Amino acid sequence: MIKIAPSLLSADFGSIAEQIAMVDAAGADYLHLDVMDGRFVPNITWGPKIIGDLRKLSERTFDTHLMIVEPERYVDDFRKAGSDIITIHLEATIHAQRLLAYIRSLGAKAGVSLNPSTPVSLLEDVIEDVDLILIMSVNPGFAGQSFLPVALKKLKEARALIDAANPSCELEVDGGVGRSNIARVVEAGARIIVMGSSIFGAADPAAELRRLRDLSLPAARAGVS
Ligand code: DX5
Ligand code: ZN
Repeated sequence: MIKIAPSLLSADFGSIAEQIAMVDAAGADYLHLDVMDGRFVPNITWGPKIIGDLRKLSERTFDTHLMIVEPERYVDDFRKAGSDIITIHLEATIHAQRLLAYIRSLGAKAGVSLNPSTPVSLLEDVIEDVDLILIMSVNPGFAGQSFLPVALKKLKEARALIDAANPSCELEVDGGVGRSNIARVVEAGARIIVMGSSIFGAADPAAELRRLRDLSLPAARAGVS
């Protein structure tokens, strides 16, 4: 009922096969792959080539978070590389509805993400075209930032929109989540929890992942979704 999605942004790519095997064995549900272009966000990570290489290392759902301008230019490549979910930023493209429909036509799940300053109400007219809403709880670009409380309000709004208009849509949160606040984001409605530094920065990432899941469960059981 709760899906844990370790963000490889905080993993050590010098030993990425071991890092992925470790979180796979600890029960990670999704692997969260942060693609950054140095334009939409002030940081650069990796592209389809690296995702294709990582694809050989894990059977888990590949949850690709595109923090790039004009994502429509690259979704084919990320799908071919093995992305199961492709999430674009609403702020990064002009014709979001067309792009979301196109991502679905490629056989991937179509996700849409909102920066902290973008209101959930902007999703009202596109909710039926979306398989996943990603609420950013930091300004995207870097791991290890502090959680912005506005995300709790936005998760509740997104949960209400999903329940009313597209109950199969997933709700994900990303940024600054760890032991201190995982229960609160679940209470607010999140069911996919992205975590980078709180998992890979721990002395024992596998044990930390299990502990974080345990901390999320009471809130998930109390929730309606
Ligand atoms: C931030 C990325 C996140 C990042 C989260 O722009 O989208 O996925 O890895 O890292 P933490 O969990 O450390 O905030
Ligand atoms: Zn992310």
